[in-house]
Amino acid sequence: MTGKPQSNLKTITINGKTRYHEPAASNIDVAAFRKVVESRRSVRKFTDKPIPQAVLDDCLDMAMLAPCSSGLQPWEFYIVRSPRKKAKLVEACMSQSAAKTAAELIVCVARTDRVNEFSRKMLREWPMPKVPLLVQRYYQLIPYSYAPGPLNSFAMMKKAAISVGGLVAPVPRGPFTRNEVELWATKSTALACENLVLAFCAHGFDSCMMEGFDEVRVRKLLKLTDNMLPIMVIGAGERAEDGVFYPQVRFDRELFVHEI
Ligand SMILES: Cc1cc2nc3c(=O)[nH]c(=O)nc-3n(C[C@H](O)[C@H](O)[C@H](O)COP(=O)(O)O)c2cc1C
Repeated sequence: MTGKPQSNLKTITINGKTRYHEPAASNIDVAAFRKVVESRRSVRKFTDKPIPQAVLDDCLDMAMLAPCSSGLQPWEFYIVRSPRKKAKLVEACMSQSAAKTAAELIVCVARTDRVNEFSRKMLREWPMPKVPLLVQRYYQLIPYSYAPGPLNSFAMMKKAAISVGGLVAPVPRGPFTRNEVELWATKSTALACENLVLAFCAHGFDSCMMEGFDEVRVRKLLKLTDNMLPIMVIGAGERAEDGVFYPQVRFDRELFVHEI
């Protein structure tokens, strides 16, 4: 199977073998990165200043550079612009101040139904002249591996087989069931959400992640199918002077970081 031919691929020879070469970045400004991470706060009150389209696009592009399981990009972002729909979305977000005052409201959706399509797309658009055999096998297998089947029937069969195999060697324990596949898509989508809010910050805008919304109403508003999971709504805009309600609280690191 051949991938997309690329003439500008950098390669390096190691032990007589030609390898793809992407050098590590150098001179990254840690202080600038720290400033973005430390100044990001959940902002619940925004000014009227709009976010320029170019900024929004750049932030979304950076969001979608987040790591994603198997490279399968299970996310979607709905930028709700229609005034009628925006009003309904604010209502679905329980009329929270962060939603009411946001210049932009973005519904972040995790999709479980594109595994098959995107696995094939990955093989078609593989960024090297030839798709390695292992990669080919992997993307041919994933659609079967992640398909839960009616009432999780395939998932249960896979779980039974895997638990036998797991007695003798480490095996992947999922995602097999519908819930597990939803969790799978949610993890990668949440990482993209974090990239998105940090990117807003780097551009001088702020945001608030919200899971306080009526899922049924959001689903109806965006006509989401069962395989599309709205995981959060992100309100974004310029921070009002009183936009952060409280100082940030983080507990002692000993509670969370364990060296074993
Ligand atoms: C998944 C998620 C859901 C959240 N939902 C809401 C929400 O519905 N409304 C809200 O005002 N804040 C929401 N927040 C913001 C949190 O309350 C906030 O991140 C937390 O209090 C820590 O404050 P900080 O973000 O300023 O560090 C949410 C945050 C996350 C990560």
